[in-house]
Amino acid sequence: MFVGFLMVSCGQMGKPPEMGDLEAGGEPAEGGIKEVPNPTATMAKKSGKSLGEIQRGHEVYMLHCGECHRYKLPQDLDIDEWETAVPKMIGHAGLASADEKAVLAYVVAVKMDRGEE
Ligand code: HEC
Repeated sequence: MFVGFLMVSCGQMGKPPEMGDLEAGGEPAEGGIKEVPNPTATMAKKSGKSLGEIQRGHEVYMLHCGECHRYKLPQDLDIDEWETAVPKMIGHAGLASADEKAVLAYVVAVKMDRGEE
């Protein structure tokens, strides 16, 4: 009869982050949806990827990349760090390799659009 209580009291079951609930390392001023902007044709062109691919990447990112930890924002890592981190995360998240490429294409496109490296 206590099973229900045990399940509720399992401390790890925090509320998953909601869409748009983006916080950057405890600095609320840096959080928010503008940190993960919608892909644009300009962004695609600058990064040499198709708009469709970075749109897919944005979608996968929004759906999955805040599941286990706060969203890591494009500016949090350098491009080469993203290249190492994303394949690991895709393994964690059990996503397809096309999605891995798309997420990476997306974060790199955001960074290039902002002139970051
Ligand atoms: C199933 C859980 C899970 C999902 C889903 C997930 N991550 Fe992670 N992520 C982790 C764990 C665990 C760590 C820390 C340990 C590690 O690096 O493996 C981490 C660490 C990171 C880091 C820090 C790596 C570093 O070197 O500082 C980044 C960046 C990151 N994740 C990005 C993402 C992105 C982008 C996605 C969406 C594709 C994602 N994560 C989805 C579990 C997850």
